[in-house]
Amino acid sequence: MPDVTQTRIPPGVIDLGVGHPSLELLPLEPLHQAALHRLSQGDPSFLQYGVESGDGYFRTELAGFLSRHYGFALGPEELFITSGVSQALDLICTVFTRPGQVVFVEEPTYFLSLGIFRDHHLEVVAIPTDENGLILEALEVALKQHQPAFLYTIPTFQNPTGTTLSQERRERLVELSQQYGFLIVADEVYQLLHYYQPPPPSLGRFADRAGVLSLGSFSKILAPGLRLGWIQAAPHRLQALAQSGLVASGGGLNPFASAVVRSALELGLLEPYLQKLRSVYRSRLEAMLQALRQEGLEPRYLPQGGYFLWLELDPSFETQRLLEQAIKEGVRYQPGARFSNQGRLAHALRLCLAYYDIPDLLEGVRRLAGVLRVVAAAAGKGHCIE
Ligand SMILES: Cc1ncc(COP(=O)(O)O)c(C=O)c1O
Repeated sequence: MPDVTQTRIPPGVIDLGVGHPSLELLPLEPLHQAALHRLSQGDPSFLQYGVESGDGYFRTELAGFLSRHYGFALGPEELFITSGVSQALDLICTVFTRPGQVVFVEEPTYFLSLGIFRDHHLEVVAIPTDENGLILEALEVALKQHQPAFLYTIPTFQNPTGTTLSQERRERLVELSQQYGFLIVADEVYQLLHYYQPPPPSLGRFADRAGVLSLGSFSKILAPGLRLGWIQAAPHRLQALAQSGLVASGGGLNPFASAVVRSALELGLLEPYLQKLRSVYRSRLEAMLQALRQEGLEPRYLPQGGYFLWLELDPSFETQRLLEQAIKEGVRYQPGARFSNQGRLAHALRLCLAYYDIPDLLEGVRRLAGVLRVVAAAAGKGHCIE
């Protein structure tokens, strides 16, 4: 039987490395209602090739939704519809970079973005981060050595660390982008998944002042299978995307999913679903934190939202090498080195709180702690540097 979850998790293994929403949380009923609504309007226009920047009715609904949640007003002319953040990144590389150019990323960064940059033959330079996100002094040093086409940053509830760029750093980052003339590509896929206080407003707030392209997606707030997202930026930057060969040939991206999600927004179905996600994920985060602490494992940072916890172990640990042993004990994670373009951070690992319900999360943590204890005892060390 095909793996319907697309995760290829070995039977019996709790895979705390998978960064997907759980299957049972996916919104079958709201999307059923939204699709029925859209298909019963007697208007087939969403089945036609769409305008390059995406369906105008959908962009208007989306602009209203984002204005309510992002803390600043924005209009449909500032939005370009994409098939998700991954596709947006690919299109941005196509339109705004040339092979051989430098792009800056955070260290650690979302590991799958590195593959997209590699596909475009870009040279990746990593900038260090701390508990408040990107370290701007280090960015400034790098800016004196390179002229990046853009900086790729995940400012809020970062993947993999869970950290959020502070407001002061956001403002300084925008000043630097103006001073040195580089684009900021802000991947804000977790912006709306806060479990306590809302984070600082999206970096898209600065789009009229600076070269900010703010990327969003329905993957984490509705369903990844929709393949639907957006780029918010100044209209003149979006024009360059609308002239790409891709949309000139195929029309605006994903009109069918846009039309269904337009109905979901019009019918007010997204708000209660988002509230539910925040509440479920908050309980999972708290349960997981408690379980980790009981095992003497303190995450490096305390996330206030998003999907991930980042653990840094004693530097003698090599989490890629340990993975085989962990799988034998029925647990998996993402080794830290995958989040570094230089293969650094080998002693770290990323855990995801979204995919499993609480009993499986607790069992996963128990198994992980068991493996780490055995390895630490063999080496005569403690397992966490905290
Ligand atoms: C930081 C980050 N960016 C992008 C994605 C993928 O987004 P999409 O499904 O919209 O392509 C993910 C999914 O894990 C992510 O964590």
